[in-house]
Amino acid sequence: MKKIGILITLILSTFFRLNAEEGMLIPSLIKAFESDMQAMGMKLTADQIYSVNNSSLKDAILHFGGGCTAELVSSEGLLLTNHHCGYSQVQSHSSLENDYIKYGFWAKNKEQELKNPGLTAARIVRIDDVTISVLNGTEGLTGEAFEKRLKENMKVLENDAVTGNHYKAEIKAFNYGNDYYMVVKEVFTDIRLVGAPPSSVGKFGGDTDNWVWPRHTGDFSVFRIYAGKDNKPADFSADNKPYSPLHFFPVSVRNRVPGEFTMVYGFPGSTEQHLSSGHLEYIQNKERPARISMRDKSLAAINASMASSDLLRIKYASKQARIANGWKKWIGQIGGLQSVDAIQIKLDREKAFNDKAATKSEWKEKYGQLVEQMNALVAERKDDDFAYAMDVEYIFIGAEMFKRCRSINKLIGEYETLKELGELSDEIEKYKKGSKSFFKDYDNPTDRKMFTALTDEYKKQVVDFSFSKYLSTRTSEELAKDIYEGSVLTDETKFNEFLDNLDENSIEEFKKNDQAYLLWKELFDHFVTVVIPKSRDFDAQMNGMLKIYVAGKMEMFPDGKHWPDANSTMRISYGKMEGSAPHDGMQYLEHTTLDGLIAKNQTGKSDFDLLPRMKELAAKKDYGGYDQDGDLWVCFTSSNHTTGGNSGSPVIDAEGYLMGLNFDRSWESTMSDYMFDPNRCRNITVDIRYVLWIMDKYADAGHLVKEMTLIKGDSPYEANSGSCSEKEKKCKRKKRRCKQKCKK
Ligand code: ARG
Ligand code: GLU
Repeated sequence: MKKIGILITLILSTFFRLNAEEGMLIPSLIKAFESDMQAMGMKLTADQIYSVNNSSLKDAILHFGGGCTAELVSSEGLLLTNHHCGYSQVQSHSSLENDYIKYGFWAKNKEQELKNPGLTAARIVRIDDVTISVLNGTEGLTGEAFEKRLKENMKVLENDAVTGNHYKAEIKAFNYGNDYYMVVKEVFTDIRLVGAPPSSVGKFGGDTDNWVWPRHTGDFSVFRIYAGKDNKPADFSADNKPYSPLHFFPVSVRNRVPGEFTMVYGFPGSTEQHLSSGHLEYIQNKERPARISMRDKSLAAINASMASSDLLRIKYASKQARIANGWKKWIGQIGGLQSVDAIQIKLDREKAFNDKAATKSEWKEKYGQLVEQMNALVAERKDDDFAYAMDVEYIFIGAEMFKRCRSINKLIGEYETLKELGELSDEIEKYKKGSKSFFKDYDNPTDRKMFTALTDEYKKQVVDFSFSKYLSTRTSEELAKDIYEGSVLTDETKFNEFLDNLDENSIEEFKKNDQAYLLWKELFDHFVTVVIPKSRDFDAQMNGMLKIYVAGKMEMFPDGKHWPDANSTMRISYGKMEGSAPHDGMQYLEHTTLDGLIAKNQTGKSDFDLLPRMKELAAKKDYGGYDQDGDLWVCFTSSNHTTGGNSGSPVIDAEGYLMGLNFDRSWESTMSDYMFDPNRCRNITVDIRYVLWIMDKYADAGHLVKEMTLIKGDSPYEANSGSCSEKEKKCKRKKRRCKQKCKK
């Protein structure tokens, strides 16, 4: 009852209306936001968005591979997600003869669709608030006893939920454990690849354009869910049938109108809106800059190698993309947080929190000291967190030689057991295979450059590295010489010889003398025994306080818009299609077109390379009717609060039709993981009309478009979208066929 009360007050509050676009809302609570969404133009009811008893939009949205979102667009299980989400599947089916990465792949019929072992797509059956049951019997318990009871309760609830059905259930903490929800899902395991555009479409703009607006990326790929005869999940079988969904999205090819309602419905991974001012200050001014500096070093080494030869460019392309994606996002985040002065905003909010707490003795006792304590904890313990971040960057993201050490450490640790079980030679064969694929994309001199530069940077950042005999007594060059010229781990031939002659003696010898292994062992042992426990303890203490802080915000500011941080569960964010003005004197429009894509190509930069077909179609302006007033829209922005994991999420219009696929945010808005600024935070979507055009005109896969339900005609917004004379003027200006009929 209390919760419902809070939600109702929410809707009535003005504060909430001003911040209509912030927040990632729990679908099962969406009723509380229905009227506000409708006030923004939405024509749907809460029940059409989320319902347990009837089919609803949620049934057409799947958690794809655990890290992305995908949506159903046909009665035969046709599934859309981003190109970068299906990338590893496309890559796994590619070879030099069939280079699907470069030229794309399109199954001409269902027989040609390709299976993907290990890939899953999960439909959410229901999301239940189980807070009371999870906390049952935990009153008065603390520490381990509390955790134990909590886990037992969860186990019972999860087991009950899946008894007698084929579902899976998982309980997750929300709001740092103020709430618990159980997510019941149906997990499909036969997901086949149907199509993917060439990288020159799906990854157009590459790293140059990543996190950047204006954008022209056709970031989509196409899959199909197959199910058993009973339409339930089944592992791959030739007898499986295309899945018949409870709901699939009709696709809107109507004209878009700036300001129209948009909703993003998907699986955002993680946000941290509640961090204290001191905590944010530490992240913004110390932790992130240090991680960026580490990656500057790796990227400098990798980029130089990639520029030096085609072979190295190919070898390091995906590693470079992985390192650069986070690096570029963080730079954008810091810029955004600085320009809105996020720390000052946090300080002001903390003051308001403290002032409010001072108004009631009960609040004063519960919440009066909290802000100060959180900031004190950061001041006292930030080094523990920092050590963790630096070790992750150095040992796990940095030089790949460390990765080899980790893997060989496992083998020699299991040597005796494997020998006893008679499984040694099989295991060695596996390692040989693994090493083949590792060394295929490895370059000793590049890794050495990375190692040397990162070692110096790591020492500079952590300052006290006395725990490491190696780092304290040797220079990075000395270490690099021993490691990259002497270790068996940095040379494929030596490594295979080592595997071929593996026995007790060679292992002893290796453990005593291999300089790569010895350095890694020293660092890794320190990481496991000292760094991890300390950083976990810091997190546990901080999360305990954040739990009370969030409870305090909800109790003392019932009129604020409260939403739980993203945690990879299904969420809804609503907003409108709009541009932004993130820099003084500059305005971003809300959409881009094929003309802009061609203009980027004409700069000659390799990230904007195109295959000839695109240039031919563009030159002919052969838009196949997917244009808007003579322009083919490629991407658009809207003010929906999104984060990593929202990739592939459907962007849905006022009537529940698919407008496009979310795939990125603009650079200026990546700060929204910490603080959402309605003036600048925009998500980036590839327009579904561009997706259809690529399928239909570019890839000759019109049979897929025929499978979908296309919504044509006038959008409900069009009547108000500017006067007739304005439209005519625009058409004349563009000297293009103008299909816009003027309605008086
Ligand atoms: N920035 C997007 C995301 O975080 C897209 C990443 C893939 N694209 C790229 N050029 N690396 O996942
Ligand atoms: N590209 C991101 C993803 O893979 C989405 C971008 C973002 O962080 O908003 O989920």
